[in-house]
Amino acid sequence: PDSNNGYSYEDCQATADWLLAQAAVRPQVAIVCGSGMGGLADTLKDQVAFNYKDIPNFPLSTVPGHAGRLVFGTLKGRPCVCMQGRFHLYEGYPIQKITKPMRIFALLGVETVILTNAAGGLNQDFKVGDIMIIKNHINIAGFAGNHPLAGPNDDRFGVRFPCMSDAYDRDLQQLALDVGQELGYGDFLRDGVYCVVGGPSFETIAECRMLHKLGADAVGMSTVHETIVARHCGMRVFALSLITNKAVMEYDSEEKANHEEVLETSRVRASQLETFVSNLVSRIKPS
Ligand code: 6GU
Repeated sequence: PDSNNGYSYEDCQATADWLLAQAAVRPQVAIVCGSGMGGLADTLKDQVAFNYKDIPNFPLSTVPGHAGRLVFGTLKGRPCVCMQGRFHLYEGYPIQKITKPMRIFALLGVETVILTNAAGGLNQDFKVGDIMIIKNHINIAGFAGNHPLAGPNDDRFGVRFPCMSDAYDRDLQQLALDVGQELGYGDFLRDGVYCVVGGPSFETIAECRMLHKLGADAVGMSTVHETIVARHCGMRVFALSLITNKAVMEYDSEEKANHEEVLETSRVRASQLETFVSNLVSRIKPS
């Protein structure tokens, strides 16, 4: 195969160098805003923002509810970079393209990545509006080779066979739990396993029941690929799901998953999520 499908180290380095030349901020933390959570990026102070289309070699996003901007700035004094709008497999992008921003972040000097998403709740104890700290993931398509690290490995990013048993940083999970409890969010803070599917259709009832039996607490269409690539290139990962709707598990249910409900739930929790993430960022110790 083409040695890097157009997503080479040099390609990422050129983008990182371009960004470092434009923005004074040297981000320690990168944040990816999930569906309807783009407001988080607007809370950054001393912003310098770039439309994805103006950044050399950067992908473009196409989903309603996802703007396409990379925002540099500070959160409670911490230098950060925020992706306002992310890339999904269902948009038809190659899986390497979806995860390319992670490699660029690593080359910018980012140490910690915070990934957020909207997800359907499979765990019957979860309620709409719960925030689930992701403790682990299931990457079903990855088993069959649909994997962001498939292809030649560039050792400058990371090793050929990266470990994933420690994908989600335990200290960050504990810190997030502490921060959430201090904020009085304990009643809607959970933890669990996130399963990624390709989308864009939502799951059938049989698929939801299967995923739940396999150990997933929530299902969505993002995050896992970004986690894998961020871990591959040595960054720490914290990820959360906003449970925007309950996955339909019963054949006699009248409920139907839809994107409007996803966006509506994220509107309800938006300001709390912003507070949660910014307090978490302020408490992360630089490594
Ligand atoms: Cl129910 N499924 C998937 N795949 N993604 C979602 C969702 C459900 N709810 C929000 N995002």
